[in-house]
Amino acid sequence: MQQISDLELPVLNFDDPEFRKDPFSPFNEARAHHPWLAKCSFGYVVTAYDAMREAMEHDDKMSVGYTRAVEGMGAIDTPWGQFIKHAIQTQVGDLHKRLRTVLAPAFTPREANRHRWIMREEMSRLLGDWAPKGELDFEYFASHFPVSVMCRIIGASPDVVPSIRASLEILGLGGSLDPAYLPRLQESFTHIDGFVRQLAADRRREGIGAKDDLLDRLLEITDEGGLSEDELYNILVFLFTGGYDTSKNVLSLIMHLLIDRPEMYERCAKDLDYCHKVVHETLRFHGVASSPRLLHDDIVVRDVFIPKDTMLFMPWSAAGRDPGSFRDADVFNPDRERDSPIMPFGLGPHMCLGQYIARAQIEEGLHLVAQRIRNPRRNGENGWREFVGVWGLRGFPIAFDYEPAKETAEAN
Ligand code: HEM
Repeated sequence: MQQISDLELPVLNFDDPEFRKDPFSPFNEARAHHPWLAKCSFGYVVTAYDAMREAMEHDDKMSVGYTRAVEGMGAIDTPWGQFIKHAIQTQVGDLHKRLRTVLAPAFTPREANRHRWIMREEMSRLLGDWAPKGELDFEYFASHFPVSVMCRIIGASPDVVPSIRASLEILGLGGSLDPAYLPRLQESFTHIDGFVRQLAADRRREGIGAKDDLLDRLLEITDEGGLSEDELYNILVFLFTGGYDTSKNVLSLIMHLLIDRPEMYERCAKDLDYCHKVVHETLRFHGVASSPRLLHDDIVVRDVFIPKDTMLFMPWSAAGRDPGSFRDADVFNPDRERDSPIMPFGLGPHMCLGQYIARAQIEEGLHLVAQRIRNPRRNGENGWREFVGVWGLRGFPIAFDYEPAKETAEAN
């Protein structure tokens, strides 16, 4: 057996601005040096799809490790630090199992599909507000969509969307672990936390059950003793943070891919089933999320001993580009035959709770975007977000021909 510290490993430099423009080539180069492991500034990276699956078999010996990072920032006793400490993603063992068990019925594919009409209405409203000018920053535009959908499915007014969106954008800075951002993180967290508490209080006053929406479900679970009051508010905030940059980055990356593939874009306008394929293929080709795992115990993977307290980084976003597990991994082909299961939503007990909502909203959003934003073309440079955390575009100016809503698209 080999010790991980004795291995000669390639280094992935996530801080290099070039890395975020094309993270997949450095991963290929790293796998040429070592088949499944690399080093990075904060620990080790599992670079191969199969090895990620094998490492995740030890998930009972790891946690996401954010609490330690927040402690390192000196922020653990702040409201934002307490939010991270008690977030569902940070929990392990029986406590986490209880949260998943009580929440699971509210996040089934059926529940997600129940909200498709809201997803259509929200995208249609946003297109009507933003697209008549014939040009926009698609990433900025797309960032309003998941917030609008989440607000609607918990019964909040669309008026709050801009301020919640702005706070979510700031909360995304938390991943940098830079203490300089702390005052803004606190302010943004307090804003969203206050908003969900007020929303829950208003709903209780109005009466639970009449709206039959996600907020009703979560309040029912709480009143039946499944969640404490603090757990309720924490999960409500987490649904906004977990669904925000992930969903908007995937939608923006789809536009970025299809702007050069007009036949595919055209098919998306006509065929919702094809949108499903495009979303699935984008999640393989350009998954956006990655997570750290802190080991609470020693583990052995492929005869390599990895000691307790090691940080192992799981790049879910790059797993779909491993040519060892996907044929023609670097070819974007929504009609490809499915081979290995993709893992853009992670693996194991923390696998994304909102994955069905995410897929449904991106599919419905894409279908309407392709109908109303016609002949999109680049209208300036786009930037890239950091790979660690939630990767994606930073700004994406486009110009296009605007197609007003047809009555049927609005009404359905
Ligand atoms: C394309 C969009 C999305 C992607 C790529 C994505 C990705 C992920 C990943 C990789 C994880 C696992 C993290 C880990 O293991 O450390 C996760 C967890 C989670 N996601 Fe998502 N997500 C998306 C959208 C959403 C949406 C829309 C929601 C809410 C409606 C959501 C809610 C959650 C929650 C609550 C967790 C924590 C689950 C747990 O710890 O048990 N996500 N997501």
